[in-house]
Amino acid sequence: MTDEELETSLDQAARWLRVSKRVCVLTGAGVSAESGVPTFRASDGLWEGHRIEDVASPDGWNRNPTLVWNFYNARRANVKSVAPNSGHYALVEMEKRWGDRFCLVTQNVDGLHLDAGSVNVLEIHGSLRQTRCLGCGEVTNRGLDPLSDAPECPQCGDRLRPHIVWFGEGLDDVVWSAAMVAADECDALLVVGTSAVVHPAASLVPIARRKGATVIEINLTPTEASAYADVGLYGPSGVMLPKLLQRLAPV
Ligand code: OAD
Repeated sequence: MTDEELETSLDQAARWLRVSKRVCVLTGAGVSAESGVPTFRASDGLWEGHRIEDVASPDGWNRNPTLVWNFYNARRANVKSVAPNSGHYALVEMEKRWGDRFCLVTQNVDGLHLDAGSVNVLEIHGSLRQTRCLGCGEVTNRGLDPLSDAPECPQCGDRLRPHIVWFGEGLDDVVWSAAMVAADECDALLVVGTSAVVHPAASLVPIARRKGATVIEINLTPTEASAYADVGLYGPSGVMLPKLLQRLAPV
């Protein structure tokens, strides 16, 4: 897209946002790419280097939990070494404008939106920072310090797994219901840095669109969500989100 087309699209997106009473944002791995967190489906992405069925499925876990823990410990170490970027921070500023009428739904498990200071965040795929006990079910925040490759529950001694949604598993009902409400009720949906191929997360886009929300896509390239988008801002989210924020008048 030319510079002129981009300016026009940014102005249009900002106009729509300014008149929106409720705003929902759906983010994916792309929003953290400029922080140094690998995405999944890029040629050098996580799913090129690891088999989903080995490290992100219940079968993989049952076959070799040590391998799974090694994978998540490496991801935890990666996130410990990075920081939120200007895209995360622009979303923090946007939330201040709409307050509790702003909901940030993220597929990311890196916790960088919370580190940046976003408040109303729904981590629909779980968090790298949390473990869940296979015995007592307790979910605990562990931060990002290294865990062993066979961690045990401090409460009951049973095995711990990453509190991450794997392929073939359902999302947490409460968190997912809140995400659907946010998409259903918003006047504008920002879809940022996601290939929009993983469901049910990606279905938030048609849910919002069907209810008449304006859909604004920010990505390096068009995606599965583009068919629903009223406007696309194609470039890095660490650049596009601050540019969009700049165009929103102060509260
Ligand atoms: P993907 O790896 O599928 O897609 C990342 C998207 O980010 C692509 O569309 C890229 O074009 C875009 N992108 C990359 N760098 C960007 C940048 N700097 N600015 C803007 N966009 C950029 O990651 P997700 O869509 O997040 O689920 O994947 C969805 C889910 O699939 C993940 O949550 C994960 C994975 O399997 C689970 O693990 C449950």
